[in-house]
Amino acid sequence: MNNKELEQVEIEVLIDSIRRRYGFDFSNYSQASFKRRLQHYLKLKNINRISDLIPAMLHDPATFKTFLFNLSIPVTEMFRDPQAFQVVRQKVVPMLSTYPSIKIWHAGCASGEEVYALAIVLVEEGLYDRCQIYATDFNDQVLKMAEEGIYPTERIKEYTLNYQKAGGKRSLSDYYLSRYEAVIMNSALRKRIVFANHNLMGDASFGEMQLIVCRNVLIYFNQSLKEEVLQVFAESLAPRGYLWLGTKEDVGLPGLRNEFKTIDSRQKIFQKK
Ligand SMILES: C[S@@+](CC[C@H](N)C(=O)[O-])C[C@H]1O[C@@H](n2cnc3c(N)ncnc32)[C@H](O)[C@@H]1O
Repeated sequence: MNNKELEQVEIEVLIDSIRRRYGFDFSNYSQASFKRRLQHYLKLKNINRISDLIPAMLHDPATFKTFLFNLSIPVTEMFRDPQAFQVVRQKVVPMLSTYPSIKIWHAGCASGEEVYALAIVLVEEGLYDRCQIYATDFNDQVLKMAEEGIYPTERIKEYTLNYQKAGGKRSLSDYYLSRYEAVIMNSALRKRIVFANHNLMGDASFGEMQLIVCRNVLIYFNQSLKEEVLQVFAESLAPRGYLWLGTKEDVGLPGLRNEFKTIDSRQKIFQKK
């Protein structure tokens, strides 16, 4: 057995240990990205071999927590891909506004910047008070940050630019309070948001959503998990409900050909048929 094959055995044992101990099945994650994140974690913690990590993973849940935090790549920003928010204003909001109450599932919300951005759009379009937003992620650490809505001031310049490009109607500073090195999002924006832990690998679906937002999450999954999760989204949407994915993601998978029609192929907005 050469080193590469040995490493593969170690990875499989690690994944199996995590699955059996904590119920998270990373065998359905893109192996390239899993390996990259694993190597990054080993370096960070000064661990020489993958197998050296396994005892701590099995016996110390805190090790799993930090590993999960490292693995989950919670990279995000406010109004990421600003044009997509414009398209949401133009093509999704008119349909949403026909509903007396609007249910939105924001899956993989990370530390919340994206869900506050969506809340701002809904406020500006006069829909927010009719909305119930379920913002979920499988990483409790980032969910806590999302709930607090406190972000470093140094990123606000970039977010303000994004907000303007996204068709913002006011000034982004109307939506936060500045406190030294950080900004705190207005609590009014949180009023209709429920933050909750939800694992896309196997947790139950939600019901009758008018919009599901899940951007830059499916890219980390292999084909079969992507299909499974998209199937859950299809089941969770009300008829004619919208699905908004990341720019590198798509619904065009063999198991799903007929569930969605494309509303905007560039900004990856789909509608359940
Ligand atoms: C790159 S971030 C995307 C954040 C945001 N949607 C955006 O596009 O800016 C990916 C997020 O997906 C979450 N995630 C990854 N696998 C998940 C799973 N199986 N269930 C729920 N959330 C997951 C991660 O914890 C992370 O916060």
